Amino acid sequence: MNIIHISAECYPIAKVGGLADVVGALPKYQNNENVRSQVIVPFYDNAFTKANSFATIQQSSIILGDQSYAFNILVLDEKPLEFDVFFIDIPDLLFKNYVYSSSDTERFLAFQIATLDWLLTWESYPDIIHCHDHHTGLIPFMLQESFKYEAFRKIPNILTIHNAQYQGWFSHDKVGLIPPFNFDHVGLLDWGGNINPLAAAIKCAWRITTVSPSYMEELKQAANGLEPLLSAESDKCVGILNGIDTNVWNPETDHYLVKNYKLKNVSAGATANKKHLCNAFNLNPKKPLFAFIGRLVYEKGSDIFPEVFKQTLEENDISILLLGSGNPETEAQLEALKPLFTGRFNAHIGYDEQLSHIVYAGADFLLMPSRVEPCGLNQMYALRYGTIPIVRSIGGLKDTVIDIEEENGFGICHQNVTVTEITEAINRGVALYKSQPKYKAIQKQIMEIDHSWDVSAQDYIKLYHSIKN
Ligand code: ADP
Ligand code: GLC
Repeated sequence: MNIIHISAECYPIAKVGGLADVVGALPKYQNNENVRSQVIVPFYDNAFTKANSFATIQQSSIILGDQSYAFNILVLDEKPLEFDVFFIDIPDLLFKNYVYSSSDTERFLAFQIATLDWLLTWESYPDIIHCHDHHTGLIPFMLQESFKYEAFRKIPNILTIHNAQYQGWFSHDKVGLIPPFNFDHVGLLDWGGNINPLAAAIKCAWRITTVSPSYMEELKQAANGLEPLLSAESDKCVGILNGIDTNVWNPETDHYLVKNYKLKNVSAGATANKKHLCNAFNLNPKKPLFAFIGRLVYEKGSDIFPEVFKQTLEENDISILLLGSGNPETEAQLEALKPLFTGRFNAHIGYDEQLSHIVYAGADFLLMPSRVEPCGLNQMYALRYGTIPIVRSIGGLKDTVIDIEEENGFGICHQNVTVTEITEAINRGVALYKSQPKYKAIQKQIMEIDHSWDVSAQDYIKLYHSIKN
């Protein structure tokens, strides 16, 4: 079975968040003697493309409305990855030093059209086309409706919703950018008066998956306007929990860490990484360290972080470290908090892959008070590195973290995203940390939880088989 994943992100090629981690791991775990899983991504102007060399395997051009754009299909000259990747190089549109911007309609539409145009030239077509998020959401529509892709009608296709908050809306004025189709069916593109790529995918893809079972259920009640559509299409929707790449995220071999460790020497290993962090950020390594890593956006609850941190630092003798970027107002408020709590609060505003690994290893607790969390990978990385997650029970967080008060519990859970509930949850963390034997027992328990992709990758394969011709 030949599977093609099409995505805007893929670790280590281009990463903004968890989408990259998933698309960079799932194919590895799917590939075996019967399955070949390959990935198609845009060719961006970034550190990965600068550091590697590429060969051009095809040159062509696409029509986007009344414009023509040249594109190349590139492959890596050497094979640094464990799966095949094809790069869509559209120099005039995709090749930027960012993945997303506020006006990406043309970029990602061109990416999708070039991908399908190129697939048309294949001698034998893929058995499954697996799209990820709205950037590839028009592919199921085009496979079903565009005249030029008639040959693809029978290819089963899936779209995975990693985050339904973002839907890729654009105005019907731009409908002419989409390759010609029977205009009687234009309604398939529409949601609420706009062209909505995510809605179009939910209508046209053969199956829709989301990245955790709970998120699938929640989407029927809260999906940024798509609730009725997801309820109506629920028969073809399924939630499959993400896994983690246990080769990349392994404290025993992780080359980003200051000291590697395993279950047997977790205390020594975690402490060495904590000391390094505390030195770098002027924090006291003797105090419990609470950390946050992620995008500073409303869904992550980041708008109330400044108030939460202020209140909890006034009440408790703890340290807090934040790694993230996003909303400029939140960033400024966090910067302003630093001088008020010198030696107890610090933040690195920005993106730093290496630092994130050291934080997973060195922090004592990882905060994830998300308003929306389709799956969340951070909590799973934290578990594997022996760091106790403090989460709001929602989406994938609900499916992966059990509160310490419950049977076999190992994390701290709260129900609402309020300053009071988050600070109370932190207080529970402080109490747990004071009881070191209990803290250390939980640390060992969580490092043994298996969240590798082994099971979920097979769940996808079963799903592919269920729709394969
Ligand atoms: P989301 O995709 O919604 O941002 P996930 O929990 O699925 O959330 O995945 C986030 C991924 O991005 C993790 O690999 C996390 O370590 C990483 N990440 C987020 N922000 C940063 C940052 N500022 N620096 C380094 N890594 C980050
Ligand atoms: C999205 C979600 C996150 C999920 C990730 C990977 O970015 O916000 O919860 O873990 O995709 O599926």
